[in-house]
Amino acid sequence: MSQEKYILAFDQGTTSSRSIIFDHDGKVVAVAQKEFQQIYPKPGWVEHDPMEIWSSQSATAAEAISRADLSSDSIAAVGVTNQRETTIVWDKHTGKPVYNAIVWQDRRTADYCRKLKEDGIEAMVSEKTGLRLDPYFAGTKVRWILENVKGARAKAEAGDLLFGTVDSWLVWQLTGHKVHVTDITNASRTLFYNIDQDGWDDELLELFNVPRCMLPEIKSCSEVYGHVEKNLYPGGAPIAGIAGDQHAALFGQACFDPGMAKNTYGTGCFLLMNMGEQPIRSKNNLLTTVAWRIGDKTEYALEGSIFIGGAVVQWIRDELQLVRTAQELDELAATVEDAGGLFLVPAFAGLGAPHWDPYARGAAVGITRGTNRAHFCRAALESIAFQSADLITAMEKDSGISLKELRVDGGACKSDPLLQFQADLLQSEVIRPKCIETTALGAAYLAGLAVGFWKSRDAITKRWEKDHSFTPKRQAEDMAPLTAGWNKALERSKNWED
Ligand code: G3P
Repeated sequence: MSQEKYILAFDQGTTSSRSIIFDHDGKVVAVAQKEFQQIYPKPGWVEHDPMEIWSSQSATAAEAISRADLSSDSIAAVGVTNQRETTIVWDKHTGKPVYNAIVWQDRRTADYCRKLKEDGIEAMVSEKTGLRLDPYFAGTKVRWILENVKGARAKAEAGDLLFGTVDSWLVWQLTGHKVHVTDITNASRTLFYNIDQDGWDDELLELFNVPRCMLPEIKSCSEVYGHVEKNLYPGGAPIAGIAGDQHAALFGQACFDPGMAKNTYGTGCFLLMNMGEQPIRSKNNLLTTVAWRIGDKTEYALEGSIFIGGAVVQWIRDELQLVRTAQELDELAATVEDAGGLFLVPAFAGLGAPHWDPYARGAAVGITRGTNRAHFCRAALESIAFQSADLITAMEKDSGISLKELRVDGGACKSDPLLQFQADLLQSEVIRPKCIETTALGAAYLAGLAVGFWKSRDAITKRWEKDHSFTPKRQAEDMAPLTAGWNKALERSKNWED
């Protein structure tokens, strides 16, 4: 058994919980992963069982530690990163959730958001939070639970219920129900956090009718929040880093200078650009968000959020059953030169940035008698790249920076045809790093910095290594008709209300 020290990162994502152990070189030593149930009670609704989130996460920690053949005291610190916005409300005495976790993709509060918009509230909310009035964020989900779960509002007002995003829930469990905190990145996705005043905002809490006593304490991204309970894995280790998964990925990609950007091809796709120490407001329907806070220095990012990215590959595999694996989808997509005029708009959970239409639904446009499986696979990959390109166009307008390179990560970035098409569409370089576990790595770095395992960001920058660069192979004028077709298809998918 090794006597060296390691960092354990919890990466609690939308479809699976993962635990990854990193060594001092930032190399992956062991990974354990567990998928968990996706619950779809009604069209447009998406839930998770919070107890399963916790049990899958803690099981993977034990498994990763055992795979790496480490004792639990070899873990110098634990970092937590998580699917953001997913909302959990639980009873602080019994520890039991009062309702399932309402997942970020859930659209049940769309009508309420629309009503607030019609009442002219959105400008005030955006000004304070940097976000939009969209069901995506946690705020309207908390309100929904308090309005719809019997007895919840009275208990919340009596101070018996706690609210948290998944980071809070995990830390509360890890510390044996002692510590109720969140970090500033997750706080900045709730609709309760005032980005200029740096704290929970009473006017917003009143608007959504959410008692302040339910909310966690807001912390930085890199500090010791508490210790893992002795009877859990890795008992006694300090929990020393928290960041929402997209912020952690930006950190793991070492995008430390303003203008540096990454795109994560996970369940959704999330493009974040570091904007430095000022929270720049978007004029092109992107979000202003906190990149991270270390010590008392806060840095900000602009974000474009796409709700269905890599998940379209899963949909082709699991629901349409056109292929058995993601690799087979890649291979099939590569057998055709193009999608044969087919455009697939995967607006299965509405459209996020820059369209923000919770009523949009998926569409396949341009099907002809000759359209086949391979065209569908190709159109699915292309849809991920088209959506990402829309974000980059908006990001370039907002930042005034023309992107020279895009760092990519996330499961779907293993796909060479996807990244090549992305480079062709953007007419710029797309770079895949050697370690594509950048989300977990970012959380590990944040935790490691807090306990002195790593000394500085420079040490992190030095560890970032390129695996492959995709440079444009097609001319801009060849891509323009494709973009025009995509835009037409997009219009067909919008505002699909029943
Ligand atoms: O905002 C939602 C995002 O944090 C989910 O990330 O990696 O689970 O798709 P992921």
